[in-house]
Amino acid sequence: MRNPRNFTKPLAIGAPAPLNDIPDRPSRMIHFFDPSNPRMAAKVPELVKKVDVLLANLEDAIEADHKIAAREGLIKIARDTDFGDCQFWIRVNSLDSPWCLDDVLGIVGEVGDRIDVLMIPKVEGPWDIHYMDQLVAQLEAKHALGRTILLHAILETALGVRNVEEILSASPRMQGVSLGPADLAASRRMKTTRVGGGHPGYLVRADPDPDDPDATRPTAQQDLWHYTMARMVDACVSTGALPYYGPFGGIDDPVACEDQFRNAFLMGCVGAWSLHPSQIEIARRVFSPPPDEVKWARRVIDAMGDGTGTLMLEGKMQDDATVKQCHVMVNRAKLIAKRDPEYASLYGFTPEELAAV
Ligand code: GLV
Ligand code: MG
Repeated sequence: MRNPRNFTKPLAIGAPAPLNDIPDRPSRMIHFFDPSNPRMAAKVPELVKKVDVLLANLEDAIEADHKIAAREGLIKIARDTDFGDCQFWIRVNSLDSPWCLDDVLGIVGEVGDRIDVLMIPKVEGPWDIHYMDQLVAQLEAKHALGRTILLHAILETALGVRNVEEILSASPRMQGVSLGPADLAASRRMKTTRVGGGHPGYLVRADPDPDDPDATRPTAQQDLWHYTMARMVDACVSTGALPYYGPFGGIDDPVACEDQFRNAFLMGCVGAWSLHPSQIEIARRVFSPPPDEVKWARRVIDAMGDGTGTLMLEGKMQDDATVKQCHVMVNRAKLIAKRDPEYASLYGFTPEELAAV
């Protein structure tokens, strides 16, 4: 048990007080790059103008021989880059790796004031978060950082999914969680060899037609990730954190990527990872509420007055609950509009409407 009265007190003397609320900044795409790769590093100044979150990846996909170069590369990039209103996140190596401790000591020590969020892979339970929480607080105090560094967990082991509520309640530093389908599939011993998305073998089939038993029976592919996504979204919302879909490995299949991202958006996620520049625009389009839905939602809100009671609008029943859904859609659109001028003009909010956000 933790004393709830201590929850918003710093864990180390001199560290900044934890935040009461997680800032809900647009984070439609968390764009991954390899900071040990000079070609990718050269693109950073251009990327920060395009993406909501730029993430320097130190973990999987970075070869063991490049781990130190990646850490050093990101420190240099963090120092040299003007991020504007783009968030800067880092995925450190996992807690059981030989690199994690030096990642955190080095990064927070050198460029702690530039980091918004540390993404922690393969989190299994609250003990992982307690360790990181204490360590980061000690480093914040040691380096006299003026603002809190937030933590984000990747949900990518069976035990992590089992403990997702405890993980999210372990610290006020928890910004959110991403679903990591590749490691999760391995941990669960699923029989897949892809990174996220559907699988043609996971389906249900209609019964045979008694009059024509040999006729082709319709099938419908099912969603392998539905259960995990639903648990993650509920756990995040219950603790004031933000849920994200993670990676989609089929770079050559933008249609299926868009479907996977849209499922996540509809279920309550605020963003997804982009692993390739072509996925940036997909995430931007999917995680920005559709302008026609926003228009409809504004009509419902206007028609519903004080938000109580019931009325019919074009054959659809509206009441207190539909107006709440419409507010979710409009509020998200306003948040996006403040960062993205193209969507601001598609939504058509007045400057006064946006100023109130
Ligand atoms: C992400 O890290 C994943 O394993 O899917
Ligand atoms: Mg992983």
